[in-house]
Amino acid sequence: MILVTGATGLVGCHILFKLLEKGQQVRALYRAGSDLERVKRVFGYYSTTPEGLYNKIEWYEADILDPAALDEAFKNINRVYHCAALISFDPKDKKRLYKTNVVGTQNVINYCIHHRVEKICYVSSIAALGDGAYQQLMNEETEWDENTQSAYSVTKYGAEKEVWRGAQEGLQVVIVNPGIIIGPGFWHSGSGALFKLVAKKPKWYPPGGSGVVTINDVTESMIGLMNSDITGERYVLVNQNMTYKEIFSAIAREYNLSAPKKVFKKWHLRLLLPLDWLHARIYNKARKITSDNIKGLSNIKIFDGKKIERHLPFSYELMAQAIYFGCNKYKAEYPDKFL
Ligand SMILES: NC(=O)c1ccc[n+]([C@@H]2O[C@H](COP(=O)([O-])OP(=O)(O)OC[C@H]3O[C@@H](n4cnc5c(N)ncnc54)[C@H](OP(=O)(O)O)[C@@H]3O)[C@@H](O)[C@H]2O)c1
Repeated sequence: MILVTGATGLVGCHILFKLLEKGQQVRALYRAGSDLERVKRVFGYYSTTPEGLYNKIEWYEADILDPAALDEAFKNINRVYHCAALISFDPKDKKRLYKTNVVGTQNVINYCIHHRVEKICYVSSIAALGDGAYQQLMNEETEWDENTQSAYSVTKYGAEKEVWRGAQEGLQVVIVNPGIIIGPGFWHSGSGALFKLVAKKPKWYPPGGSGVVTINDVTESMIGLMNSDITGERYVLVNQNMTYKEIFSAIAREYNLSAPKKVFKKWHLRLLLPLDWLHARIYNKARKITSDNIKGLSNIKIFDGKKIERHLPFSYELMAQAIYFGCNKYKAEYPDKFL
């Protein structure tokens, strides 16, 4: 049986759908408060009878920080897709990031070894490659940059070290390092929030850029790697390097809206930093502008994601297709925002 952690998130829920579609038996981790209805809704994007597949999931409630619950969850498991993580650039989440991403992955690896799991696929991130030098083309061989400041990056890198420790202890491992994942259904957090943001007709766009990849390419490569003999390898999953201007414009085009025309300069973002801090304090909201994401949103990072195409019978799909699909699902769920 296959275990999927983070099954109620963007990557986990799409992996779940693909595995079930292929007739695999899957146990999926959720937490008290996880939104299971959203999983069913996302299944409905791809199937006219989503309940059929959804009802085949063996749901199991376990926090990856709760060893006793994890021990039970790992019984009779031979493969693991580890997608659970915290994505945040808010400094107040530093401890939670370390716990969820590093300690959580340490726990998952320990139970993989304890329960003699054959193979694990860990979803890391291009963030785990570190900041890199200015305009450096980054790939799987890029050496970790010790000056990397972002707590999210540091914890994704720390989690990878736990996975490599598992490999040394005999576990078969593959790691994927996706860029910004373009996929539907998770409109209020992470990369999914891009669809919501552009629907609000922003006038401004951030100056930077990064690697992007579609959710379908991420899940296809993960399953391809798990079904292959490949072990002990990591793969940057980046289909295209795009500026934020290009990403915002492509989404706006699908919405039939005009694209934002003004660029936020780094100093604009720095000016907004204390205001955002104050807003977060007064309204008890997550911070949107932090030193970490100013850097991320301002820099242009470029990635080479071709290794996966050399190692698997796989080629990236068109980015425009995924943007079109995501925009249509967002419009269908929130038609009033486009009146
Ligand atoms: N989205 C992107 O653009 C992107 C890009 C590169 C890499 N990644 C990586 O891809 C992976 C999946 O990301 P995503 O976009 O799917 O994130 P997501 O939508 O935020 O989902 C995160 C999942 O992790 C679960 N989770 C968090 N803390 C947990 C804990 N302590 N115990 C058990 N489950 C926990 C969440 O459960 P709840 O539903 O209960 O909150 C949710 O199911 C992460 O490792 C992320 O770093 C994402």
